Amino acid sequence: MAIETKYIWMDGQLVETERATVPFLSPALHYGLGVFEGIRCYATDQGSAVFRLREHMERLALSAKVFGYRSLPYTVDELVEATKATIRANELKQCYIRPLIYHSAPNLGMNLDAGEPKVGIAAWEWGAYLGEAAIRQGIRAHVASFTRHHPNVTMTKAKVTGNYANSSLAKTESLRLGFDEAIMLDPQGYVAECTGENIFMVRRGVVYTPPLATVLEGITRDSLLTLAADLGIEVVEKPIGRDMLYTADEVFVCGTAAEVVALREIDFRSIGCGEMGPVTHRLQQAFFSVVQGQHARSAEWLDYV
Ligand SMILES: Cc1ncc(COP(=O)(O)O)c(C=O)c1O
Repeated sequence: MAIETKYIWMDGQLVETERATVPFLSPALHYGLGVFEGIRCYATDQGSAVFRLREHMERLALSAKVFGYRSLPYTVDELVEATKATIRANELKQCYIRPLIYHSAPNLGMNLDAGEPKVGIAAWEWGAYLGEAAIRQGIRAHVASFTRHHPNVTMTKAKVTGNYANSSLAKTESLRLGFDEAIMLDPQGYVAECTGENIFMVRRGVVYTPPLATVLEGITRDSLLTLAADLGIEVVEKPIGRDMLYTADEVFVCGTAAEVVALREIDFRSIGCGEMGPVTHRLQQAFFSVVQGQHARSAEWLDYV
């Protein structure tokens, strides 16, 4: 899908997309030296609103710290304002937002201290990442042949651009095999997360999800934990084996791009009754009601543009 957008915010200025380029010798291109975020803005009756914008920008700053940048050229507040300016300039009612901090100084010495990090923010209209039907009917997934990151190899708390080569290997394998998404196991063999989503399973009304040690601290994950507590649904964070997924009543994934989607089949095994289960449905409904500005949590989590 081609990305259409008029302006990209680059280092303090809104630049026409055709002119928002990076040099061929950027270490960001050659070594994946950069950190990024994925954020969504929703159309509500009260206007466009970005979901948990500040938390996303705080995570961007933490990704930069984990990766090893010593300082950033913009504060979280400035990045929040720049994001809103980008949405306004592109006249978007709802969109996906992609901030990126990257290395572009022409130095291929693999040294983060060579050159200052640059910052860009793009925004464009992007529908359901896994497809509209996925939201209602769920998707088919498989367990990837590729292992997820180890905290002492590439680390798991930072959205480092280079880390997503691992996600791309698994996602491409999954699509080529005819599935919709890949479930990745951690180096110990426990279920970690999907290529761009956190994962949950439900057994006898209790929701289980892997602990945070080897997965990204998803902002949607955190939101669903809060919404589950609001709804009186018990959530337990514990290591999950792949066979526990096969025998679960429900499995679902969540992320900014994917939102909340059921896994109706994993490795050719039907999950539960082979369609979205009741617990997933309640959490999905609560999530969409929040982002559409119709929930008690909306005021806390929506930042109007
Ligand atoms: C590897 C990975 N896990 C989980 C998530 C979900 O995180 P969030 O809900 O903050 O988008 C993402 C997306 O950012 C991701 O890339």
